Amino acid sequence: MSNTNAYRHPLGHDEAAFTAALLAEVEEAIQWEGPDQVAIVIAEPVQNSGGSFTPPAGYWKGLRALCDKYGILLVADEVITGFGRVGEWFGSLRFEGRPDLLTFAKGVTAGHAPLGGVLMSEKVAAPFTSGDAVFTHGLTFGGHPLTTSIALAALDIYEREGVLDNVRANEPFLRAGLEELRRVPIVGDIRGAGYFWSVELVKDRTTKQTWEDDEASWLLRDILTAQMVERGLLCRLDDRGDPVIQLSPPLVADRALLDSMVGIVGQALEAAWVGWQDRAAHAA
Ligand SMILES: Cc1ncc(COP(=O)(O)O)c(C=O)c1O
Repeated sequence: MSNTNAYRHPLGHDEAAFTAALLAEVEEAIQWEGPDQVAIVIAEPVQNSGGSFTPPAGYWKGLRALCDKYGILLVADEVITGFGRVGEWFGSLRFEGRPDLLTFAKGVTAGHAPLGGVLMSEKVAAPFTSGDAVFTHGLTFGGHPLTTSIALAALDIYEREGVLDNVRANEPFLRAGLEELRRVPIVGDIRGAGYFWSVELVKDRTTKQTWEDDEASWLLRDILTAQMVERGLLCRLDDRGDPVIQLSPPLVADRALLDSMVGIVGQALEAAWVGWQDRAAHAA
């Protein structure tokens, strides 16, 4: 089934048609399985694997409508997008998700302590809160007061220091900086939201041709990682799908820090472009 990768979908240039095609695929899958066989539909507000795929307009609204139509629960996996990563408390708020359940982790403690959790609507919680159903799933450290206190302290700081406002205010600046990386010919796509961005690298921008495995490994590990580490930037490069540089700066990052991050990525990409031309010349 297609993901929300507009860059590689044949209808990606036409947002309304793209949304309709994606939702038609979801509905087809539900019908193929049989609606009574599908308990949940789960999706990330911005998908991590493959590199920060944002949903086209109307996508989450459409998922909600399909779930309502077939009596299925909608789950938002907000392990990444929860607690500020996309400039809102939850990605679902930004993309009109209205999920029945929502999973979260990383940002709830700003990463200072390991904590994950799930939020649910009153309807989903009702059997446990007003009935006599028991959620038969225990964890040794579930609901531990130490980590939950750390989470509360982190959330207080988010509010007091306007951390989400910082992300919202600087998103256009970060986007504009990243867009300038298109000057390097191996940059195919720039996508993301808030402080969660990816730069997809291609061999040929016109055809969107991607790299062979050994080329991607050379590009990401030998060249880009080395270039970035040397300049003081640790960042995630991923070639499980098409090769991407993934950028998730701290939510407190100011414009100077964002600028230096984008500057280092740009220098590394320029070095990679030169390296790639050399490599291609030697192979010829
Ligand atoms: C989007 C997303 N969902 C789920 C998970 C898994 O979360 P956990 O390791 O808390 O089970 C991750 C982990 O990185 C993630 O990025």
